[in-house]
Amino acid sequence: MEHTQPIEWVHNERAGSIHNSEHAEKLFSNEITQQVRAFHSQIPGYRVSPLKGLSGLANMLGLGGIWVKDESDRLHLGSFKVLGGSYAIYQAVRELLGITDRELTFEELTSEETRKKLGDMTFAAATDGNHGRGVAWSARQMGFKSIIYVHKLTSQSRIDSIEKNGAKVVVIDGTYDDAVRQVNEDAQANGWQIISDTAWPGYEDIPRWVMQGYATMFTEAQEGFSAVGMMKPTHIFVQAGVGALAATTIGFYAERFGAERPKTVVVEPDLAACLYLSAQIGDGEPHNFEGDLETIMAGLACGEPNPVAWDILWDCTDIFMKCPDYVAAKGMRVYGVPLADDPFIVSGESGAVTLGALSFLMERPEYAELREALELGPDSHVLLVNSEGNTDPEDFRRIVWEGGDSVPHEYRKA
Ligand SMILES: Cc1ncc(COP(=O)(O)O)c(C=O)c1O
Repeated sequence: MEHTQPIEWVHNERAGSIHNSEHAEKLFSNEITQQVRAFHSQIPGYRVSPLKGLSGLANMLGLGGIWVKDESDRLHLGSFKVLGGSYAIYQAVRELLGITDRELTFEELTSEETRKKLGDMTFAAATDGNHGRGVAWSARQMGFKSIIYVHKLTSQSRIDSIEKNGAKVVVIDGTYDDAVRQVNEDAQANGWQIISDTAWPGYEDIPRWVMQGYATMFTEAQEGFSAVGMMKPTHIFVQAGVGALAATTIGFYAERFGAERPKTVVVEPDLAACLYLSAQIGDGEPHNFEGDLETIMAGLACGEPNPVAWDILWDCTDIFMKCPDYVAAKGMRVYGVPLADDPFIVSGESGAVTLGALSFLMERPEYAELREALELGPDSHVLLVNSEGNTDPEDFRRIVWEGGDSVPHEYRKA
């Protein structure tokens, strides 16, 4: 049986000529990202997530450095997602209270007085698991209810962990994109406030705040780079579902460094490659990917791009890449069994695909042209985001313990 090759890619040449993306500038100015960070740092239990260097692996792959922003334990919720949900709820509440001339403190946000002023509110979201957990957790901090829609392939452990954070969970017979549509309809009928990580025409403010919330990761990452005497990474590989995480990562660096920004690669599952497809069509518009989206990378199983994110990605992404499941599975195992002296990292399916992709890219002769286009070599320092830890323990054991989704023989290292 022939297997899909580890990497297919589209080179977005126009990104090389755009030195100032208006779309990135609007969302990720220094002032905004500092203010977002100031909000997050008031959350009880907030800690800077680690920036881990895998120097042994970098050396083995012929790179100068691999730097992993490890989000596996962010606020003990297993992924970066709470950064977006909490900040969007904060901004939505500020708006509902009509307080636009100053920031609220976290204490004010979660006070009894605020709760009384807003009355009986319910926050709603569609999710593959991680976003819903972050929204449920944030709503609970403020004493509000939450209702979270998941699709039929969502694992029981993900549902359990959303419920543990106080939410009611509704399972939809369809995909993540169907859950987004359904929660939107039901929220309108019931007067719930939707906190979505994807946008649609007429609903863009909250998804923008979600994306701005993610920026705290990179404010922190830059502090980590400064601490080791580096100004910035030379390359970024970032995974995408609807593209909000990728657009924040890439937009943050484009806004700061303009023409000197790192070279950028967006990685998607081949069975849910809506951004790759949009780049391949190449008319500047986002396009939907049809299908069941049945990939082990549950967080990336999205067929409809976030249009706000797409505008940034179309301006600033050099390479759009798609990879089969075994690439993510390999990434999980490489993180989990590091070379001597490299740190051990717990990474779930959606977290690990960029490391899997980077290892195939650096090791296989058929990708020499792509390595050259990206100028990847011994002076390169690559930033990756481990966007989740072990968020689905059963599947984690199937892959890491039992070798599930193994690399096909023809793509193993000789
Ligand atoms: C663990 C993880 N990584 C990456 C992503 C991708 O984020 P986005 O949908 O913004 O592209 C998600 C989305 O839910 C996720 O849960």
